[in-house]
Amino acid sequence: MSEKINVAVIGCGSIANCAHIPAYLKLDNINIKYFCDIIPERADGAVEKYGCGKAVYDYKEFLNDPELDAVSVCTHNDLHSVIAIDFLKAGKHVLSEKPAAKNLEEALKMQQVAHETGKILNIGVCNRFGTQVNNIKKLIDDGELGEVYHVYASFRAHRSIPGIGGDFTNKAVSGGGALIDWGVHYIDLILYCCGEPKPLTASGEAFCKLGKNIKDYVYTGMWASETADMNGVYDVDDSVVGLVRTSGPVISFNGAWAQNIGESETYIDFIGTKAGIRLQYCGDFKFYSTKNGALTSADVVSSHNNFYDEEIKSFIECVQTGRHNQAYIDYAIETSKIMQAIYDSSEQHKEIVIE
Ligand SMILES: NC(=O)c1ccc[n+]([C@@H]2O[C@H](COP(=O)([O-])OP(=O)(O)OC[C@H]3O[C@@H](n4cnc5c(N)ncnc54)[C@H](O)[C@@H]3O)[C@@H](O)[C@H]2O)c1
Repeated sequence: MSEKINVAVIGCGSIANCAHIPAYLKLDNINIKYFCDIIPERADGAVEKYGCGKAVYDYKEFLNDPELDAVSVCTHNDLHSVIAIDFLKAGKHVLSEKPAAKNLEEALKMQQVAHETGKILNIGVCNRFGTQVNNIKKLIDDGELGEVYHVYASFRAHRSIPGIGGDFTNKAVSGGGALIDWGVHYIDLILYCCGEPKPLTASGEAFCKLGKNIKDYVYTGMWASETADMNGVYDVDDSVVGLVRTSGPVISFNGAWAQNIGESETYIDFIGTKAGIRLQYCGDFKFYSTKNGALTSADVVSSHNNFYDEEIKSFIECVQTGRHNQAYIDYAIETSKIMQAIYDSSEQHKEIVIE
């Protein structure tokens, strides 16, 4: 490996520009060698904006560049698996965005190739690098909550279907809706904080109700609206409920991109025998306990790091050392298993045993 680590960013859309590229540019030992996008203006625009790298429109052009060490895969979910596997087989290290893939089968193939090649394959599970998430993990590890027997997640919005009719709402591209797009972060965060319990069974229902008649969808604002297509496809879950038994706590959740209840709730309750925590997603938390026969509650606030910066710095350390960190594919696979089981349970209307 040359003194500088050469990386490529594949897919120069939102997450690449918000997270991956700025994080790489903060690191002294990184050279972004390629910006790749099938939309030429996006690759060209990145070269112009960041003043480095070469614009390429087909990643196969640099797949076998011997100087290239690592890549960020920032395309939509359907391409995570194929692009990650191509680069792993070419001997490169890979950081691929969340979810690991659009279904469990593809995620397992990625894991297999990572194991066979011995290259790093990390997934963009950015919450694992957040300050407060790690504070909660330490409290649980230290036994401050006692036995954590139930964790509940609420990731609900009144109206927040992203780019309706576009890639996000087309199952063939995304693999699913609210669960795979938002729920993936919550499930992953819970597994991390609770010491990676093994998922055992899952039961759930995923509803495709409010977005399916695209032209009738009523909303006030839309995230990723530039990708919306009023004549496009909508065949994913706009809300989901689930219950997962694990070797540790039971996990339950209620998630919605859109629902006819005016709540926008994004929090996780860690419920233990000694104490409990309500974490506001990407924010601070409240700690509930008892002392001297009285009920106590405390706001736990902290300065927040940029978890994307930490995720990418840690990825590069993995590339340099060969070490596996908390974003390694083996951890993300467990979240993929749970999401697949929830979707299967919903289709079959019965509980699924997770292998
Ligand atoms: N970790 C997070 O918090 C987070 C946040 C947002 C998105 N994401 C994930 O990031 C991924 C991308 O989401 P986004 O919002 O940035 O999407 P986006 O549409 O803004 O960007 C994706 C880009 O990939 C390009 N692309 C498509 N096929 C390509 C190919 N074969 N080669 C090169 N480029 C190609 C598209 O032209 C587009 O510019 C998704 O998987 C999403 O789940 C993660």
